[in-house]
Amino acid sequence: MAQKVQFVETVLRDANQSLIATRLPFDKFEPMLSTIDKVGYYAIECWGGATFDVCLRYLNEDPWERLRKIRAAVPNTKLQMLLRGQNVLGYSHYPDDFVKLFVQKAVENGIDIIRIFDALNDVNNLKVAMEATIKAGAIASGAISYTTSPVHTHAKYVEMVKELKEMGAATICIKDMAGIMGPQEAYDLVSAIKDAVPELPIDLHTHSTTGLAFMTYLKAVEAGVDIIDTAISPFSGGTSQPATETLAYALRQLGYEVDLDDKMTKKMADYFKTVRDGYIADGTLMPKSMATDTQCLTYQIPGGMLSNLLSQLKQMNALDRLDEALLETPKVREDMGYPPLVTPTSQMVGVQAVTNVLQGERYKKVSKEIKAYCRGEYGRTPAPINPEIQKLILGDEKPLEGRYADTLAPVVEKARAELGELAKSDEDVLSYIAFPNLAEKFLEERKAKEENAATYTIVEC
Ligand code: CO
Repeated sequence: MAQKVQFVETVLRDANQSLIATRLPFDKFEPMLSTIDKVGYYAIECWGGATFDVCLRYLNEDPWERLRKIRAAVPNTKLQMLLRGQNVLGYSHYPDDFVKLFVQKAVENGIDIIRIFDALNDVNNLKVAMEATIKAGAIASGAISYTTSPVHTHAKYVEMVKELKEMGAATICIKDMAGIMGPQEAYDLVSAIKDAVPELPIDLHTHSTTGLAFMTYLKAVEAGVDIIDTAISPFSGGTSQPATETLAYALRQLGYEVDLDDKMTKKMADYFKTVRDGYIADGTLMPKSMATDTQCLTYQIPGGMLSNLLSQLKQMNALDRLDEALLETPKVREDMGYPPLVTPTSQMVGVQAVTNVLQGERYKKVSKEIKAYCRGEYGRTPAPINPEIQKLILGDEKPLEGRYADTLAPVVEKARAELGELAKSDEDVLSYIAFPNLAEKFLEERKAKEENAATYTIVEC
């Protein structure tokens, strides 16, 4: 029997996030949801990551309502979200009561699979979210944030996978957020993980940034990978995932079983081509994001980070300093103990690199996030932080030992009390804890709209 390869479609989340800074509003993809449901994907990645933040910040959408609407239009295919472990969807650690309730509500509103990662691969930061996912009856996918450095070996990754299995992971995801994994590394790592935990399906996630992705997926499939993450062709390539249709075509030619409906992917591609062209025309989709960039093999800048870095420099009228910022990035990363560059460490390291370059002096100005990182508030770093830099940043302050979330007081009931009538549900409270200012503004506007509507009704009567 032919080996079967399954697909996760990323157009609604990662492709959207990597190419157009997550600006795709619900209305723009709604007409395609029932088609996407008919393709035969293993799952649709549609929520989490930056979608929650951007819904509230830029799109004036309730992220929970978006999820419910997707669920209603996609009854058959599993819906997947990306969760940043103890960071949930934010950029720093939350107390456990928030993590638990968030996971429970995500599942209640329609999520089937939660892919849980930690930016530092510190499993202590995954534990609470994994337990909550399993308790809510969803599939916990334990993710490795893949990176290369003198301290990241395949043996270490296999060790981590075994820990994830112990914690109840139903699948394993190798998350190569920067697209730096080469075909041989993919073959070796997938083989090693398959040997260690043959009963767990493995999903490989990569980006096309460096141009390696097609080859990397192919060798991963040869090593027995079960699931690959791809994007429908108009939203594929560059900082996004490789194209769904291309991989389906090639893998079938090589004798693998691919159960995707080509008529449906064609319909999706036709539709999303028009959507994409609109974003090219208005400048949201920059040509640089679509290009192959092998510099990432040196700099390890993930897709989302590269487009953020570009727009950050563009805003500061300093696009000509890009090469310097890219050179400084791996140096900051080394100082910080080789964190994988993924949210939030990618932003922290990226912003610090830009600051170091624009200030003309390294660590003259330091963000509060980098300071917290040096205090140990993001967990255990893969290698020790450069002691001189840590001393420079912390002064006499001592870094903390143990799990940071253990020092945080519960937050849900306090937030509920603060919001009072403004909150109509647990979901509102969760949005408020995640993004207080954005959510409060959103909820106030919603209330004003409702009051307006009520007035109109009275007038009409
Ligand atoms: Co990604």
